[in-house]
Amino acid sequence: MKREQKLTFTVAPGGELQGYIRVPGDKSISHRSIMLGALADGITEVEGFLEGEDSQATLQAFQAMGVRIDRPAPGKLTIHGVGMEGLSPPAQAIDLGNSGTSMRLLCGILAAQNFDVILQGDASLMQRPMKRVTQPLAQMGADIITTEAGMPPLKIHGGHPLTAIQYELPIASAQVKSALLLAGLYAVGETCVTEPAPTRDHTERMLTAFSYPTKRNGSQVCLEGGGRLTATRIEVPADISSAAFFMVGAALSTNSSITLEKMGVNPTRIGIINILRLMGADIHLSHERFVGGEPIADIRICGGTLRGIEIPMDQVPLAIDEFPAIFIAAACANGTTVLTGAEELRVKESDRIQVMADGLNELGIHAQATADGMIIEGGMLKGGTVDSHGDHRIAMAFSIAALRASGQIQILNCANVATSFPGFIDTACQAGLKLSAEA
Ligand code: S3P
Repeated sequence: MKREQKLTFTVAPGGELQGYIRVPGDKSISHRSIMLGALADGITEVEGFLEGEDSQATLQAFQAMGVRIDRPAPGKLTIHGVGMEGLSPPAQAIDLGNSGTSMRLLCGILAAQNFDVILQGDASLMQRPMKRVTQPLAQMGADIITTEAGMPPLKIHGGHPLTAIQYELPIASAQVKSALLLAGLYAVGETCVTEPAPTRDHTERMLTAFSYPTKRNGSQVCLEGGGRLTATRIEVPADISSAAFFMVGAALSTNSSITLEKMGVNPTRIGIINILRLMGADIHLSHERFVGGEPIADIRICGGTLRGIEIPMDQVPLAIDEFPAIFIAAACANGTTVLTGAEELRVKESDRIQVMADGLNELGIHAQATADGMIIEGGMLKGGTVDSHGDHRIAMAFSIAALRASGQIQILNCANVATSFPGFIDTACQAGLKLSAEA
């Protein structure tokens, strides 16, 4: 999983976005399809799987633990489930690359196995906080060692029986909720997790699809340990987090008009739609339907004028991965946009508050980083060179900014775009972005 970080994007200024756009499969759902498919009894067929590096990291981790996964065609997987107790010890430490979701969710599953595993990752992942999962898992009886600072590598010692806990999440995190629910599958008793605000509920929905009962009571979700998962068919919807760049790009360039097809529009993921609408964007959903327990729709966005807003705090967890794109919308809006309550952005693949504020300042925008958000004065973007710090979403956000810039934008360290959006360059160019990449 070691990679060369030197890819540079160069985007010529101006233009508009047009046409029908298909973005790759949802990353969160792709991870979960492998995890539950591997632990199920029987064969799970997956369609629309994200062929990005993060979801591949999860796939390879389960292959390393003895799960046979066939790949008959791009985006299609046949997972030969080994059952709840069927994983075998990997021959070496598992490298999860850039993928925080793989590491945190796997932690929940691996805490309950009867073998030892070491989880590690790239330079960014090795700096990410893990105590948020290891502490509550320790309360359940797990034995996981982090560095003193609470970071990977994670040394997970198996063979410890788990006991269910009732846990109130101190932060709104779907990753922590999911890690505890996955550990709860193996625990004696009923595991309950209460969230301070709604977070993505793909784990709960997919558990239902695998015939594993969960109970939702307001902000609390519970499951009884000791059950089994039954293999199923999963259709992964297109990832709204990848679509967000095109949604913002279309919304901020006057003559744009795009339709994003078969988008996942799970209510716990649509903060980007809600926030852009508050900013005045013209967004229309059609063909709304359900696929495997997840709502999907086609989304049409036309260009127009955006206004600065105070972003409602309840939208923050629902748009947590979309803020790099939303900051670009704010930079192109009339007036001031204020984000608060988003300190989690400081511990994503990069410090997304600081890195985005630095990049926007470089492009002539007044953007002031605060402890838990940003204050952005909409203005005129000029050309310049910005550093994505190896953060895929920052690289894609600044690419879109070029639509409204007066000069060329060069973006450094873009190789990690492949973690979530393989084919981004082609899709962006087909839609109208004047983007080229150089290693
Ligand atoms: C994810 C949850 C979010 C998100 C991440 C994917 C998931 O993290 O930022 O990209 O798949 O559960 P947190 O739950 O830690 O906010």
